Amino acid sequence: MAFPANRLRRLRRTETLRSMVRETRLTPESFVYPLFVCPGSGIRKEVRSMPGVFNLSVDEAVKEAREVHALGVPSIILFGLPEHKDEAATGAWADDGIVQRAARAIKSEVRDLLIMGDVCLCEYMSHGHCGIVKSSPQSLGAAAAAPPATAEYEIVNDASLELLSRTAVSQTRAGVDIIAPSDMMDGRVGAIRKALDHAGYPNTPILAYAAKFASGFYGPFREAADSAPQFGDRRSYQMDPANFREAMREIELDVEEGADMIMVKPAMPYLDVIAAARERFDLPLAAYQVSGEYAMIEAAARNQWIDRERVMMESLVCIRRAGASMILTYYAKEAARLLA
Ligand code: PBG
Repeated sequence: MAFPANRLRRLRRTETLRSMVRETRLTPESFVYPLFVCPGSGIRKEVRSMPGVFNLSVDEAVKEAREVHALGVPSIILFGLPEHKDEAATGAWADDGIVQRAARAIKSEVRDLLIMGDVCLCEYMSHGHCGIVKSSPQSLGAAAAAPPATAEYEIVNDASLELLSRTAVSQTRAGVDIIAPSDMMDGRVGAIRKALDHAGYPNTPILAYAAKFASGFYGPFREAADSAPQFGDRRSYQMDPANFREAMREIELDVEEGADMIMVKPAMPYLDVIAAARERFDLPLAAYQVSGEYAMIEAAARNQWIDRERVMMESLVCIRRAGASMILTYYAKEAARLLA
């Protein structure tokens, strides 16, 4: 029975009606708020390409964590800007590394807040890649002033697993509750699971950045975390944006290796991947609304080309509608405030 018997506009007439039949709702419980922790004290340095997002020293990060918790957002994810970078990513796995120090401080002050640790090496490597580089320009000597051609270096997979595992164990020891590997090396979930179990942490869950695409939408993050690769790009380890079926295989492998939760990243340009992952896998599913997604909304809003709050809430509800149970978002605090 079509029109005029069916008039879908009947249920859109008032906000009360619309609210009654609404299929998807946002709640602060599903948000995860990213924090960028840097050395020093009293530091709150705004990221140029991400207005409203800051590099925070540990003391400021604790304040921020308190605020996040008070808004009903259950979790943060920590990224670190180390004092020094080297070719072994020492700052990632050192027990006094910046993320470890932040985790300890936040745990002792804001006990109930869940702390996720982003496990990756790019922020801590002098070359900015997510794994160990064989034949980096430094080791090629002074003659290699120009960036090396692809053939001249390799991001080695298996040796990187050892450093990632060390990082995961060290973060857990410091109080991180959930380990979130974002490096995209093959086999890292299994390696980290084994290392955590071996170190006496069988109860620490792993949230795998399972389908992480090589995306231009990470641009502003690389400024925020000072992690842009010094040569080449991340296409030899992160996924080709064109590949859907491969994303399903990536997720499947991470599940087999022992992931407790899975993630698709970025979010908005990859809603089809989120929806399919929701259909196929029964693990809690996260989506990361990344720095570029945030920056685009902020930039357009600053020009008064879009209604900022409206687009912010719409982007989040649509990521939920696609099937994400958790959303990592720079809007976590503001969205929670609006929902209160
Ligand atoms: C580390 C990492 C990145 C992001 C999260 N973890 C950057 C990258 O892979 O280049 C991106 C997050 C964002 O853009 O908001 N590998």
